Amino acid sequence: MGYRMIQVGTGGFGATWCREFLQSSLRDGRVQVVAAVDLNPAALQNAQRYLGLPPERCYTSLEQAFAQNPADFCTIVVPPAVHEAVVDLALQHDMDILSEKPIADTLEASVRIVQKVTQAGSKMGVTMSNRFGQEKATLRHELRSGRYGRLDYLVLRLTCNCRTYGSWGAFRHEISDPLLIEAGVHHLDLLAELADSDCEVVYAESWSPSWAEYAGPSQGLVTMRFENGCRALYEGAKSNAVGLNGWTDEYVRAECELATLILDHRGLEVFDYDPAGAWATAREGSGRRIPLLRGSRWGHALLIEQFIDWLDGGDPMETNVEDNLRSVALVAAAVRSSRTEAPVNVAQLLERTLREVRPLGSPSCFPMKVAVKRALTSRFRLCLGCLSGRMTKRSARSVGHNG
Ligand SMILES: NC(=O)c1ccc[n+]([C@@H]2O[C@H](COP(=O)([O-])OP(=O)(O)OC[C@H]3O[C@@H](n4cnc5c(N)ncnc54)[C@H](O)[C@@H]3O)[C@@H](O)[C@H]2O)c1
Repeated sequence: MGYRMIQVGTGGFGATWCREFLQSSLRDGRVQVVAAVDLNPAALQNAQRYLGLPPERCYTSLEQAFAQNPADFCTIVVPPAVHEAVVDLALQHDMDILSEKPIADTLEASVRIVQKVTQAGSKMGVTMSNRFGQEKATLRHELRSGRYGRLDYLVLRLTCNCRTYGSWGAFRHEISDPLLIEAGVHHLDLLAELADSDCEVVYAESWSPSWAEYAGPSQGLVTMRFENGCRALYEGAKSNAVGLNGWTDEYVRAECELATLILDHRGLEVFDYDPAGAWATAREGSGRRIPLLRGSRWGHALLIEQFIDWLDGGDPMETNVEDNLRSVALVAAAVRSSRTEAPVNVAQLLERTLREVRPLGSPSCFPMKVAVKRALTSRFRLCLGCLSGRMTKRSARSVGHNG
């Protein structure tokens, strides 16, 4: 019959979860949806229509849904500021959790969530779907192939016309840093993944033009320096006149020693270095085309499958909540940089937050205990440098360091 799950959030993106993302796991019998919750009763129609739930299994109260429907795990597809409250309740009911990104709306709340999940011994995965898209996976595969020599720097662009209130989902127009929290969490994470290194220092400018109907900055320019020496530039804009590179159609250029690779609107092309071609120029669109990797599942469907494999006793999914803290730290560093107008060291910010945040009722420095325990037991061990947040899975792999 599959794992029993409760879908939390069936409006907005939750509608796509009901209509598309869950369907392959339902067909495979790996999941059965026992209940759904959304504050908005109209949104619950998606659960009835696409998940086949009867009205009495659709709730507007999280507490009632969880109390009346024993389940193995819940999803979380509600705005980031609500994630921690759902995690708390899920853990009270002994559930595992598959949550939408970001872990939470702040680094502090994200650290608390990691602490609580670790303390409860539960499993929590985060759907960092962007970097698991077919086109991003293909670019990553090419960069890791070694065919193009060393990677020097990356450029990533997302631009959209979502300047009017509600066009990017109402809550994003009301929160403090919509571009960095809601888009940057995908793209800065993707850049780190493509660079195959943790980001050391980030510098960000973020703002909103007068015509943008956002409470917080909807545009941003971010530069990043990675521990392996690679650099990256991110252009994110939600308030432009037109969307040149929207979601999944992002532009990514990778400047390598022996080639320039360009991903644009899901098409990948390569321009090879010609040692005899000093001053040679080329136009985008005229490069050698690289076919996309083949696979039956990408993005959310793939991540849901990885989560269920984990529940089955397999390895933790790549975007398990603890690992994913790095991505939230990166965003928090960018937000801080945009406010202070100074570069921010990501590892130092994470270390400071880990020291400062203590779960309610805990007089001890729980995060440090967790970090030490993790250093001893994790499959991607942290060395003592890790306690200052400097050595993580990605950098451990890239420098061959295993503790
Ligand atoms: N991975 C991706 O590509 C991707 C894309 C879009 C959204 N998201 C993430 O999905 C999450 C939801 O975003 P969205 O665009 O669907 O937001 P949304 O505001 O469009 O929809 C949120 C839904 O949650 C419901 N809701 C709000 N508070 C609730 C509560 N306390 N209990 C129950 N239901 C509640 C609302 O009624 C609404 O139906 C966010 O974390 C967002 O970052 C991820």
